[in-house]
Amino acid sequence: MLDVDRFIAEATEDIRTTIGDGTAIIALSGGVDSSAAAVLVHKAIGKRLVAVFVDHGFMRKGEREEIEGLFKEKMGLNLRVIDAAEQFLRALKGVTDPEKKRKIIGEHFIRVFEEVARKEEAEFLVQGTIAPDWIESEGGIKSHHNVAGLPGGMTLRLVEPLRDLYKDEVRIVARKLGLPESISERMPFPGPGLAVRIVGEITPEKLEVVREANAIVEEEIRKAGLKPWQALAALLEGKTVGVKGDIRDYGYTIAVRVVESVDAMTANAMEVPWEVLRTIMKRITREVPGVTRVLYDLTDKPPATIEFE
Ligand code: XMP
Repeated sequence: MLDVDRFIAEATEDIRTTIGDGTAIIALSGGVDSSAAAVLVHKAIGKRLVAVFVDHGFMRKGEREEIEGLFKEKMGLNLRVIDAAEQFLRALKGVTDPEKKRKIIGEHFIRVFEEVARKEEAEFLVQGTIAPDWIESEGGIKSHHNVAGLPGGMTLRLVEPLRDLYKDEVRIVARKLGLPESISERMPFPGPGLAVRIVGEITPEKLEVVREANAIVEEEIRKAGLKPWQALAALLEGKTVGVKGDIRDYGYTIAVRVVESVDAMTANAMEVPWEVLRTIMKRITREVPGVTRVLYDLTDKPPATIEFE
């Protein structure tokens, strides 16, 4: 069992010792990991932590506004918001290989970051890496951008205060640090965001489709009172046949995935009530232009991973 008060006290002390009177920088995504890490380090060194929210354009609906409101206005963090959506889209044009997509996103992320870090003269890079991130990366299953290694020339020193924790423990720490439930109980969301929920090439149109569909899935699951590890929509490759009125139509296929898990190392597809799934299907096909088919993903992890790419 995690002794949360002790963990926070010791981590704060460690951070102060490591960073001293230096300056640190963190990529804040709004997920529970980076949020807890940011607030913890802010608690230790105050405004000398610069939190950077890189909007790569693959965030969920309304996410950027929510993060700005909470961390900048309410919690007083030294937050910079960088709009890099166009740059990321350009870099990913024509790219279909999942690992290549992740790599490009990871590298651009670091580059955007480096620029801010240089301007701020930061010496330390804080990351919200947690145990499953590095365990899976070491196992070679997927490259998570937050442990992908820093490109040449980067002289920042890594600070990873949550490295030994699992997700359930991070949530406890986050609550203790005063973060609201919308963050502490937030569903995990991958660093590369909606980019890994579009199978194949990313286009602005597909991005809009998956963003709207994903928002509907999250909303209906929440309304139904279900508390899965993660609920998401992914956009599959290609188009399938549908009907609109009496006319044949080709449309996108959305896969709905709802999983239960303790630490994301393994997961089970959740038995979501049929009427909830039907509501999701009806709303997506009615409200999201271009979607003619909605599937439910029954696969556990293993053999499938939680995200589609
Ligand atoms: P997979 O798809 O590997 O996902 O079963 C396991 C958990 O990790 C999240 N995930 C990521 N988190 N950067 C992250 O910070 C990433 O690149 C990334 N990829 C997957 C995923 O949402 C799931 O909860």
